Amino acid sequence: MAFNFMVAFLSTTLMLSVFSPGNALSLNYYEKTCPDAELIIANTVKKEFASDKTVPAAILRMHFHDCFIRGCDASVLLNSKGNTKAEKDGPPNVSLHAFYVIDNAKKAVEASCPGVVSCADILALAARDAIYLSGGPSWDVPKGRKDGRTSKASETIQLPAPTFNISQLQQSFSQRGLSMEDLVALSGGHTLGFSHCSSFKNRIHNFNATHDVDPSMHPSFAASLKSICPVKTNAKNAGTTMDPSSTTFDNTYYKLILKKKSLFSSDQALLDTPKTKDLVTKFASSKEAFSKAFVNSMIKMSSINGGQEVRKDCREVN
Ligand code: HEM
Repeated sequence: MAFNFMVAFLSTTLMLSVFSPGNALSLNYYEKTCPDAELIIANTVKKEFASDKTVPAAILRMHFHDCFIRGCDASVLLNSKGNTKAEKDGPPNVSLHAFYVIDNAKKAVEASCPGVVSCADILALAARDAIYLSGGPSWDVPKGRKDGRTSKASETIQLPAPTFNISQLQQSFSQRGLSMEDLVALSGGHTLGFSHCSSFKNRIHNFNATHDVDPSMHPSFAASLKSICPVKTNAKNAGTTMDPSSTTFDNTYYKLILKKKSLFSSDQALLDTPKTKDLVTKFASSKEAFSKAFVNSMIKMSSINGGQEVRKDCREVN
């Protein structure tokens, strides 16, 4: 136990020094300047979760999309201004939602300690709280991120797409210092939330020249998705939950992959190398193993560096 803790501590420390050459993160960053920050943020997320159970999924995905573009610098929270379209308005981000949760947390924190806590830290902490509220693990989040001053819709093309194969996924993650284990563990975020038909429709209609349906998808699952997402539909909001227990953080996602019942090519592709397949199998058989790996990988992803200032308003640069 003590050894495990030491290994986790050392690996986290190592990661932080690798990933945060600019802003060194630390667990007690706000100890003197805003000691109640974490409590205030946790209370806000809890309150919003009570009235909308989709909040955790939204916040988790928002944090991931933030970290993958320019590091975890809250660039995803900036509003478009004039002709400059921000990340928020880039195609993969139009389905992000619940930005008001971060606004409310920021307002509450500003009332206690103005100008101290970055929006990037608020988002990282809210993502941790969101996982915990959904029945997942909790962990100490290193803090001290700064908010960025640049956000470009055009850069959202750098986010991994649901059509990605395993080598494209590997490349996308390794460019950000994340391993294959991180890829498999973090993809488990798909235990929460909802997907629109547009994100997986390519797999169930006219997949390729020889198959209407992606052969890596179970035929009965494809049939049920076809009834939700017919070829021609005007229902823009049609779609389905990522897994049947979509508001609970559990390991169902991995069990579904093994049954060929995952939504995206990028999910199913995790079976395409022996290493990632072994991890999917391991996480499918143990929620504890998944939770432990998820926490490690979240700390790594959340530590991708970026940002220069502490914004006053999360939607605008100072
Ligand atoms: C590995 C590459 C990934 C790809 C290609 C991918 C792609 C997608 C897509 C296409 C959606 C559905 C969007 C929609 O139709 O509205 C989605 C939803 C979601 N993703 Fe990912 N994702 C990836 C990794 C991650 C990671 C690393 C996390 C978090 C750790 C994550 C968390 C989520 C969550 C929680 C949702 C549901 C959002 C909601 O219900 O509001 N994803 N993802």
